[in-house]
Amino acid sequence: MTTREQAQAWDRDDALASHRALFDLPPGLIYLDGNSLGALPRATPERVSQVVRGEWGQGLIRSWNKAGWVDLPRRVGDKIARLVGAGAGELVVADSTSVNVFKTLHAALAIARQDRPGRRLIVSERDNFPTDLYIADSLAREQGCTLLLVDAVEQLGPLLDDGEVAVLMLTHVNYRTGRMHDMAELNRRAHAQGTLVLWDLAHSAGAVPLDLHRDDADFAVGCGYKYLNGGPGAPAFVWVHPRHAGRCTQPLSGWFGHAAPFQFTPTYTPAPGVGRYLCGTPAVLGMAALECGVDTLLAAGDMQALRAKSLALTQLFIELVDQRCAGHGLALVTPRTVHLRGSQVCLSHPTDAYAIMQALIARGVIGDFRAPDILRFGFTPLYTRFVDVWDAVDRLEQVLSSGAAREAVT
Ligand SMILES: Cc1ncc(COP(=O)(O)O)c(C=O)c1O
Repeated sequence: MTTREQAQAWDRDDALASHRALFDLPPGLIYLDGNSLGALPRATPERVSQVVRGEWGQGLIRSWNKAGWVDLPRRVGDKIARLVGAGAGELVVADSTSVNVFKTLHAALAIARQDRPGRRLIVSERDNFPTDLYIADSLAREQGCTLLLVDAVEQLGPLLDDGEVAVLMLTHVNYRTGRMHDMAELNRRAHAQGTLVLWDLAHSAGAVPLDLHRDDADFAVGCGYKYLNGGPGAPAFVWVHPRHAGRCTQPLSGWFGHAAPFQFTPTYTPAPGVGRYLCGTPAVLGMAALECGVDTLLAAGDMQALRAKSLALTQLFIELVDQRCAGHGLALVTPRTVHLRGSQVCLSHPTDAYAIMQALIARGVIGDFRAPDILRFGFTPLYTRFVDVWDAVDRLEQVLSSGAAREAVT
């Protein structure tokens, strides 16, 4: 069994260990929830203060040009593009993930129906993140389409083969199970039947290596406040493959998506490419904070190195839970198979999941609970240490064997 000393030795040998110093983490706390809200980069408070006091306070309206505010959606977008295997000028930062799902799904449907008139089906997974399903459901109703949900991607084969699916909408790493899909293979199978694919990268961007071009995706959206460390409510991003980007307009045709917003013409002319997926005025403070978060990832240089450490962390967690927490009713929900795993590990407990997580939080280990029975632990390789994993499982075992979870609810 791995000892605490062994875990500390791995931290000493870890080439990414120094990146932890880029974050302002509360001393003594083990933070395993970066998959929900990333930690605060040390650079962010000063940068945001500079934007507020200097660029806003002193520069005032001049800062739209002088401080480059107007370019922020594309500038930060180009940085995120490097993390997801997209080209410069193909990705913009805008709105929330939910809104970007709406814009891209609407556009994907329009393109699918131009190319293959008569297709009316949107397909997704039943356990996709609810906001994606809510948006798809309302859009389907509005467009006279049908949203069909499968219980697992393994059921997609016959559905796609029928040649009636307009758009397949999937989340790459499932929020509740941590299972990761094979993006290249699913795109290939969908495209073989003329189906377009929209990916939600909320739990992948900044967590696992992505290559949207190599894997031949059509549309992708993602979240700024999880592994990109952009802060609460950070703006999200949207990528559209260049073969689709200029083909149709998205429905929220606001002035920032106009080809010439400052000509104030009464009619809408969409910007070329992905620029038309912008809508209103960029959230400057949020984008400034997001840029600091994205820079922490770019400083690590290589998503492959982050992936190797992430897998080592999740593997250690799974092994220690197997060894030390057996017999207490916990079950592993996340796949053991490495290529099916994102950067989080989820456990289930039939009765006490909520209480166990509360007891863990009271002992300085922050993960989260997802109803009805899931304990979620996110491992952010930029700042999570091997010793954190060891200590977290040590405290989990204490909680389970002492009955502390039961006491917390009685
Ligand atoms: C997979 C996924 N998509 C979308 C969202 C929500 O995005 P937003 O609330 O920023 O629109 C989340 C939030 O956790 C998520 O996990």
